[in-house]
Amino acid sequence: MQAAQLKYTDEIAKETAQIYERLDRFYKRDHWETLAPYIHEINRLKAEKNAVILAHNYMTPDIFYGVGDIVGDSLKLARVAAETDANIIIQCGVHFMAETSKILCPDKKVLIPDMRAGCSLSESITGADVRALKEKHPGIPVVTYVNTSADVKAESDVCCTSSNALKIVNALGAEGHDTVIMTPDKFLAQNIAAQTDVNIIFWEGTCMVHERFTPQDIRDIRAANDDGVVVLAHPECPPEVMAEADYAGSTAQMDEYIKQRQPKKAVLMTECSMSDNIAAANPNVEMIGTCQMCPHMKRISLPKILKALQTEEPEIIIDPEIAARAKLPIERMLELS
Ligand code: 13P
Ligand code: SF4
Repeated sequence: MQAAQLKYTDEIAKETAQIYERLDRFYKRDHWETLAPYIHEINRLKAEKNAVILAHNYMTPDIFYGVGDIVGDSLKLARVAAETDANIIIQCGVHFMAETSKILCPDKKVLIPDMRAGCSLSESITGADVRALKEKHPGIPVVTYVNTSADVKAESDVCCTSSNALKIVNALGAEGHDTVIMTPDKFLAQNIAAQTDVNIIFWEGTCMVHERFTPQDIRDIRAANDDGVVVLAHPECPPEVMAEADYAGSTAQMDEYIKQRQPKKAVLMTECSMSDNIAAANPNVEMIGTCQMCPHMKRISLPKILKALQTEEPEIIIDPEIAARAKLPIERMLELS
C-alpha cells in the first residue's frame, strides 16, 4: 500500500486508541492521525510476512509502543535475535545492531529501515586497527563493545554490552588475565576500569551523544530540583559525569531502576526517546527533560519501517567468512552473561 493511500479510519482509531492514550502527551491528535495508519499497516504486514520488529530503547514512542515486538537494550535484542523463529527481522536501531542480528541468524533476512543509521563508536575503529592492537599487545584478550562492525568483532575475543561489560572483564580476570584490551569506547573502558582490578588498555572512541554530558549539567539539574531528583547515567558518559550520578546502567538497567523504585523525579543522562518511553510507562515518575538526541537512531521512522517491510530492503549482507568469525565473540558474550 502506498503512503498516499494510508487513511485514518474509525477501525484504525479504535485499534490504536490504547496506544494513543499512553502517548497523547507526545503527539497532538492531528499528528497521531498521520502515524496511526502506519502502525496499523506495519502490524498487518508484519503478521502476513512472519516478520519481527526488534526496537531499541532509543526509538521514538510511536515505534517503541506502536510496532516494536521486542524492545530493549543491545543485549536483549541480541538474545532475542538468536532465538527468533520469524522469517524476517526488522531492526529498528542502528547498523551494528542489525549486523549483530544477521551474524546470529545468517539464514534470516535482516532489514534495517535506513542503512545510514550508523554510530560514532562503530565508526571509530576498523578490523585492521584491532589487528594492530593485538600485534602491539600480544596475548592480551580483546573485549569489544557490540557497538562495532562485523569486521571488528571478527578480530575480537569476546564482545560486551554496557550491561555486562564488568562481568565479562571480571570473567577474563578470573581466567588469569591481569590485562585486557577494551574497544572502542574509552569512557566505557574507563568506567569499568574504576570497578575492577583488571588493567584495561583502551581505544580512543566515544559516543557522540553521551560525550556531550558534563558534570555541570548534573549540578544544574540538582540545583533546579532541590526537592530531589535521581540522576541515572549511561556508562558511555565520561567518568566525571558518572561520578556525579546516582546510578549507572545500560538502557535496560535504567528502565528497570525506574520501574522498580518509582522515584518522584528522575533524569536520564542518555538519548531523549529513552526518557519519553520511560515517562509513558511510569506516569507517577516525573522525567526531567535534559537529554541528547542520537541522529543515527532518529533516522528510523514509521514510513521507512513500512517501506522496508514492503520492499524487503535494505537488507544486511555480511561476508559469510567474517560473519562466522564475528559470531564467536558474540556467542562467548552470551554464554558469559
Ligand atoms: P544499550 O546497550 O545500553 O542499549 O546501549 C546501546 C547504545 O547505543 C547506547 O548509546
Ligand atoms: Fe552510537 Fe551513541 Fe548513537 Fe548509541 S547513542 S548508537 S553509541 S552514537
